[in-house]
Amino acid sequence: MKRKVVVFCGPPGAGKGTQARNFAQARGYRHLATGDLMRSERESGSPLGRRFDQYMRAGKLVPDDLVFDLVSQELELAGEDGLVFDGFPRTAAQAEQLDIILRETGRAIGRVVWLEVPTQELVRRLSGRRVCVNCGQVYHVDYTPPPASGLCKNCGQGPIVQRKDDEPDIIRNRVASYDLQTRPLLDYYKARDLVNLVDGVGSTETVSERVATAVVTA
Ligand code: AP5
Repeated sequence: MKRKVVVFCGPPGAGKGTQARNFAQARGYRHLATGDLMRSERESGSPLGRRFDQYMRAGKLVPDDLVFDLVSQELELAGEDGLVFDGFPRTAAQAEQLDIILRETGRAIGRVVWLEVPTQELVRRLSGRRVCVNCGQVYHVDYTPPPASGLCKNCGQGPIVQRKDDEPDIIRNRVASYDLQTRPLLDYYKARDLVNLVDGVGSTETVSERVATAVVTA
């Protein structure tokens, strides 16, 4: 039987990537992060990657039809694996489409983990974030500083850089997109009794423990 699906939602910088990656590793689930997939397509220099870039660098959401194509391709590769979605769905249309795809492939959402972090802390996290270009390992200049050698502790390579969309003006646009288009999904999933609101403030380990407690059965 195909294993369940866990969805990580929350505002930009809430720690979705950090927590979803840890959770997937601990449970042996496949981690599917639409932002990472889009960045990787962008780095390839493909026409699709250039289309993603137009939206991402402005802090706007990529149009739903492009996101569906990306997610559908990844789901075909997933086989029987359990899935952790990170940064998807982000609009009502994406949530509805996800329901359809999951139904067609014999899966169901087991839990939606909604990370809550105050806006001031989100801005602090995003402005200090650094990312390994090679493997995607995430650092923070104050909380989890990158090694002084400049080489990533995870893959031994690099470089470790600031994301293009972590500039103050773009962060503001991303938070606005979240408030307008993604936050309403909270009610959509609450109505189906799928949501666990998780306090995202505290050390990474503390938040991981809260997530593990929230997702006992999926
Ligand atoms: P995406 O890459 O998904 O970005 P995001 O949702 O804005 O989320 P972030 O990656 O910025 O933050 P996060 O919550 O993962 O936090 P992280 O763990 O890194 O999307 C980027 C763009 O792609 C979008 O703007 C859009 O254009 C497009 N896109 C992607 N998906 C799409 C979709 N489905 N539809 C349409 N468009 C889409 O942590 C942040 C920082 O905080 C790090 O430095 C980390 O080290 C630190 N940190 C984490 N946890 C803690 C903690 N507990 N304490 C202290 N610091 C912490």
